Amino acid sequence: MKVIRAKDSCEAGAFAAELIAAQVKQKPDCVLGLATGSTPLDTYAQLIAAYRAGELDFSCVRTVNLDEYVGLGPDHDQSYAWFMRHNLFEFINIDPHNTHIPDGITADPDAECQRYDALIASLGGVDLQLLGIGPNAHIGFNEPGDAFIPETHVVKLTDSTIAANARFFASVDQVPRQAITMGIRAILQARKVVLIATGTGKAKAVCDAFWGPVTPLVPASILQLHPDFTLVADEDALSLTPSSN
Ligand code: PGA
Repeated sequence: MKVIRAKDSCEAGAFAAELIAAQVKQKPDCVLGLATGSTPLDTYAQLIAAYRAGELDFSCVRTVNLDEYVGLGPDHDQSYAWFMRHNLFEFINIDPHNTHIPDGITADPDAECQRYDALIASLGGVDLQLLGIGPNAHIGFNEPGDAFIPETHVVKLTDSTIAANARFFASVDQVPRQAITMGIRAILQARKVVLIATGTGKAKAVCDAFWGPVTPLVPASILQLHPDFTLVADEDALSLTPSSN
């Protein structure tokens, strides 16, 4: 595991964007695994700036997103399809046909999960997977549990995740209770993994995940086993790690 220490979330976003930019330059038709949430916003802003400066070309890039809420279609403003369009895709020269997100309003979520894994395989797997981390150390919506779930699957969101995401909805009751998430296998099979963690709210999750034992009770801890894993974290998120004490 490599740790890149940033002074704040803006610098963390810049570091993560540099890693993604290097990947796109090295392999213009690379497959990027993308994440939603507040954490990657600085990274996406930096990528848009690099595109506008003529430094990056996304015309051949393919993307697969980690997850989507069950019940929200792409026109719902809290769907992850909406998030990706409005925070990245509309501002760069990516072909929308090359962007993939699980279908949250499918009539058959289990079939959608199988389709998504087959799609990732047909793209040749993920070259660089970008991740955030939940306060409970989830990655994507791989929530703490008895076992790591390898496949894309439908997940019942934990109370902690529903509470953490309620800030994006008018009330906690409106937060969907289920999501489709990429499983641990596709994440671990990504050739590079970059996880961004910022703020004191992530400090315990970071410490448990990367300075504690590998356990499905702390889903991100599995990344300790990945051969090319980079943690990009700000001082606040690293504040509980042994090296910071
Ligand atoms: P956040 O979410 O970036 O909004 O904190 C991260 C996550 O839940 O993976």
